[in-house]
Amino acid sequence: MESFNFYSPTYFDFGKGTESNAGQLVRQFGGSKVLLHYGGGSIKKNGAYDAVVASLNESKIPFVELGGVYPNPKSGLVYEGIETCRREGIDFILAVGGGSTIDSSKAIALGVPYDGDFWDFFGSGKIVEKALPIGTVLTIAAAGSEGSPNVVITNESNLMKWSAKGDVLRPKFSILNPEFTVTLPIYQTASGITDIFVHICERYFTNTENVEITDRFCEAVMLTLINESPKLLRDPRDYEARANIMWAGMTAHNNICGVGREQDWGSHALEHEISALYDCPHGAGLAVICPAWMEYVMEHNINRFAQFAVRVFGCSMNFENPKETAFEGIRRFRNFLVSIGMPQHLSEFGVKESEIPKIVEHFLAGNDNKTVGEFVKLGKEEAGNIYQSCL
Ligand code: NZQ
Ligand code: ZN
Repeated sequence: MESFNFYSPTYFDFGKGTESNAGQLVRQFGGSKVLLHYGGGSIKKNGAYDAVVASLNESKIPFVELGGVYPNPKSGLVYEGIETCRREGIDFILAVGGGSTIDSSKAIALGVPYDGDFWDFFGSGKIVEKALPIGTVLTIAAAGSEGSPNVVITNESNLMKWSAKGDVLRPKFSILNPEFTVTLPIYQTASGITDIFVHICERYFTNTENVEITDRFCEAVMLTLINESPKLLRDPRDYEARANIMWAGMTAHNNICGVGREQDWGSHALEHEISALYDCPHGAGLAVICPAWMEYVMEHNINRFAQFAVRVFGCSMNFENPKETAFEGIRRFRNFLVSIGMPQHLSEFGVKESEIPKIVEHFLAGNDNKTVGEFVKLGKEEAGNIYQSCL
């Protein structure tokens, strides 16, 4: 195991009715005037908006609203939010919604105290050290942004979907009421489950040895998703399944499962090109990319893939031919994704074979030597091969 720092100070308020604590939590974490940020209106249908507004009013916290965050959130609304916060003297951002709304909030939060363009932090490796505090009321189990130090935004001028990070971006509090996720369309539920699963895969496929504790954490999250997902397909109102999946989403990405080990993130980098250019749900994009990535890099460490197959998908180990076991694990992973209604081909998002070179160029962003991924480094050629295998 490698040495590490782990700082995860978010206060989680989990369960039915917890949204009524929003106002009090904003106060507790120093907010006196709030930007209430949300997406396209789902929170007005499922009761989250009314409950949060009532709680802010009860705590006598003034707020300014900014709705309209798109899935795969865009830079335009971030600039508007930064201006609004400065003009209105806002000192706390409350995100009510999914990963897109939370990420738009994080981008606004880092932009307000920064003199330059908020985009300077994206794709540059420059760590965010100053930001307004944010809180979240989560309505979809997926991105894990409710506990993560990361933010992902698409720049409208060039469609680059890039990320920034910094521990100051971890929410001060996150309210998780699984009941709010009941109104999710099944395709969004499944995209979220896939994103959670792949957040674990990015950590599980590592070159670091002797990481039994985090391997076992990772396996617990993946097994939970495999066991709980069919329950939601049978009954989308199953509170217990919703609750288990919601907490799985947080644990998959606040890095409790990833400390002390090299992480990969190649599948995410390849997927972000697809959701940036074709505007598909991030999790659905990962459902296509991640299994293809697995097949492409499997030879790098057959034993790790065989371990995944045996411990997560219940395959029996073929000691004479571990590669067969590894393959079987990937096959069962694909079957799981299909069973929850996820796509298998990029063509399902409208990607044509003739467009692959353009996607690779966009991925390279002017740097022909760019590589992504740590388990196996992927450059121009590998990225093209993986996209091609996904058609
Ligand atoms: O816009 P609204 O009305 O909120 O509708 C949303 C949106 O259409 C809807 N929705 C959310 N909760 C709902 C609901 N509909 C009915 N009932 C509810 N309870 O679902 C749609 C998707 O929402 P979105 O916020 O986009 O989903 P998700 O949480 O999957 O976030 C995706 C974004 O997060 C980024 C992704 O790249 C993508 O941009 N990620 C952020 C990460 C991070 N900050 O740590 C890590 C991830 O790997 C990921 O990259
Ligand atoms: Zn993700």
